[in-house]
Amino acid sequence: MKFRSIKGTYDVLPNVSNKWKNVESYIHQHLSRSGYSEIRTPIFENTDLFKRGVGEDSDVVSKEMYSWIDQGGTDLTLKPEYTASVVRSYIQNNLNSISPISKLYYIGDLFRRERPQKGRYRQFRQFGIEAIGSKYPEQDAEIISIAYNILSELGIQDITLNLNSIGSSETRKKYRQILIDFLKPNYDQLSESSKNRLDSNPLRILDTKNKSEMKLLEKAPMITEYLSNEDEIHFNEVQQYLNDLNIPFILDTNLVRGLDYYTRTTFEIVSSKLGAQDALCGGGRYDNLVQSLGGKPTPSVGFAAGFERILLAMDDENELVEKNIKKIYFIGLGNEVKSTMIKILGEIRNAGYYIEFDPLRRSIKSQLREANKLGASITIILGEKEMEEQCVQIKDLSSGNQESAPFDSIIPYLKSLK
Ligand code: HAM
Repeated sequence: MKFRSIKGTYDVLPNVSNKWKNVESYIHQHLSRSGYSEIRTPIFENTDLFKRGVGEDSDVVSKEMYSWIDQGGTDLTLKPEYTASVVRSYIQNNLNSISPISKLYYIGDLFRRERPQKGRYRQFRQFGIEAIGSKYPEQDAEIISIAYNILSELGIQDITLNLNSIGSSETRKKYRQILIDFLKPNYDQLSESSKNRLDSNPLRILDTKNKSEMKLLEKAPMITEYLSNEDEIHFNEVQQYLNDLNIPFILDTNLVRGLDYYTRTTFEIVSSKLGAQDALCGGGRYDNLVQSLGGKPTPSVGFAAGFERILLAMDDENELVEKNIKKIYFIGLGNEVKSTMIKILGEIRNAGYYIEFDPLRRSIKSQLREANKLGASITIILGEKEMEEQCVQIKDLSSGNQESAPFDSIIPYLKSLK
């Protein structure tokens, strides 16, 4: 029997793993520069954490979690999202005692049993940030601008930021009834899944992709009309700060998001380069989550973005950090040079250079071809003649210059090359 990967999962093969690595290292750099620190939480948690945090009626919790009872009888779930897990850790580790504001980021794998398609997998990777502790709109604007800037700097074109406010829980309670009153007389026009949601989670109907429902909803009362005075001031300030930051956005009053913890600001960034699964990232404010998971009331805001979709939307030409790295290819000719070659290679590598050699003992022609394929900008050649003279030939492939360098001055010579 030949084994195959599980449906909705995939292997990151060597031809693309560099791209993944480069995107990840760029994200680490960008978020650290913005004052966020990495947090890593376990890959599984108590099932109740997600039921309570994300909401039992959400699709994620009601249909998509990988859950099981372990040998000790504990109900466990592979993390379907990070926010609840990060908040659990924040409370458990008293991060509020270290600073009144915790600025955290994460990169890692998540699991949802969704129907696989382009851009949607059962194991997928996210990066995201959570700012726990501030109720102010400048924090929302910072979070949104970080998401927008990272995606733009990764070279993803055609991105659109959709923004909404779904108000505080009181606002939503009021609006929920107004929406039900509007939809009930039109019950027959609703899809099966919306009929099921009408009583449990009517706001999710606003998220529909069903054309006739979208038409019907054009006439529905908008949540933004029911915002409280404070909700509205907050939302206006978020928009003002985004304008100040030159971040363009579109108001989308139907943007409610699929997870139940959101309050006030919600946003998504979509790309027209993707198909049906066009959301690169999503997030918003969740002022009640810390308290509902057992902590003190703590306003928070964050977002998460899907790596697979970022890589799909990224321009293939965008090699990021990779383009700044000078690659060296070491060409060793003849068996007598191998031990010296390995020694020099180690020294160059320890000095921080990217260097490769040919472990297949191929001809000089094949090795040069390999250097070319790799995009090397320098070759170092060591043959019998060089061994006798205790030197190597260093060729700068961009200028075509070739010079010999004695064994003990190879690294200073490499440093002298621009
Ligand atoms: P989410 O909208 O469920 O939000 O996921 C965020 C992003 O993860 C999506 O926009 C998408 O790019 C990616 N994603 C989600 N599901 C899949 C999948 N099955 N396959 C591939 N990519 C996927 C959250 O997870 C919230 N925790 C975000 C957040 C953080 N809100 C506040 N803080």
